[in-house]
Amino acid sequence: PEGATPTPVATVSQYACQRRTSTENYNKIFTDAFEVLAESYELSEFEGQCLAFRKAASVLKCLPGVVRCLGDIRGLPCLGEHTKSIMEDILQCGRSFEVEKILSDERYQTLKLFTSVFGVGPKTAEKWYRAGLRSFSDILTEPSIHLNRMQQTGFLHYKDISRAVSKAEARALGNIIDEAVHAITPDAVLALTGGFRRGKEFGHDVDFLVTTPELGREKSLLPDIIDRLKQDGILLYCDYQASTFDISKLPSLRFEAMDLFAKCFLILRLKGSKVEGGLNSAAEDHRGWRAVRVDLVSPPMDRYAYALLGWTGSRQFERDLRRFARFERQMRLDNHILYDKTKNEFLAATTEKDIFDHLGLEYIEPWQRNA
Ligand code: CTP
Ligand code: MN
Ligand code: MN
Ligand code: MN
Repeated sequence: PEGATPTPVATVSQYACQRRTSTENYNKIFTDAFEVLAESYELSEFEGQCLAFRKAASVLKCLPGVVRCLGDIRGLPCLGEHTKSIMEDILQCGRSFEVEKILSDERYQTLKLFTSVFGVGPKTAEKWYRAGLRSFSDILTEPSIHLNRMQQTGFLHYKDISRAVSKAEARALGNIIDEAVHAITPDAVLALTGGFRRGKEFGHDVDFLVTTPELGREKSLLPDIIDRLKQDGILLYCDYQASTFDISKLPSLRFEAMDLFAKCFLILRLKGSKVEGGLNSAAEDHRGWRAVRVDLVSPPMDRYAYALLGWTGSRQFERDLRRFARFERQMRLDNHILYDKTKNEFLAATTEKDIFDHLGLEYIEPWQRNA
């Protein structure tokens, strides 16, 4: 669908948290190109350029129609000379030579391949590349390489976990987790977060928040869920990290990039036979099951709204919420807290709406946060 002409540009904020971005992206041809450049800069540790291209892509994603000429983007924030020259190439030739050069670059291809394995980050990928390794078989046959448990699992389930998870599969997993948590404690609270909460059709994993109204009771929740999944024979991999969040240390807490709540990164065995509609298509192959990545986070109930907002994403939306809080409001926002530096106080919130209100922002629905 081509949609309408882009909105008059004066109305577009530089902050993603002041824009409404649905899953519909009319300018994928440009944003895909920007993502390649961003990844390439990220792999070379040019963080500034990487972010610049991610911001530019995010701005284009909120437009209600296709950009047809450079005039259409006049006045839009976050689009610099470099992004414009890439767009100009695409508008004129249907492609960008700079992007094509990256895509055909051996180092880029190899690092992308290696980091596509669960448990392999840019550092490890770079190390293997420098050692002259270029393929999975190079890695798996190199005697000097020791794979950790996460990476072993990543190779073992590579095909499954690199295949997109569908909404129906996310729903099926939601039912499994729902049954497990409510068997453990009937008053458990379970919420879908991440990309599926934003209305995406596909994801690389499924993210959930689980907690209980009773403060402190959530501490045993994830270990209990993990035990149950193990008993049910569907736990293929589990990396559990206990909470390091201490509310009594809050006043001295630095701004945290990573959150400190109890969480686990799982791989579950999902049987594909009961996918709704009866047509399983890619949801199931001959084995009748697939491996799926699932993330569970378990904040204490009084941190629920902050955790939900932080785990719903998108990453760009989160970045800009924090940036907005800091530079426009003299506040600090992370997955645990909102701190007002001018009043020297922590602001309480029971819903996401409370947090937007504290920040003086219009409420943005989860499905409008696909920045
Ligand atoms: N997140 C976080 N801390 C982490 C991991 C993730 O706060 N240690 C947040 C990220 O900001 C992100 C959200 O949780 O917005 C979901 O992360 P992720 O599953 O990686 O991304 P999705 O948006 O769900 O996209 P995908 O469909 O690829 O899973
Ligand atoms: Mn996700
Ligand atoms: Mn991710
Ligand atoms: Mn996730």
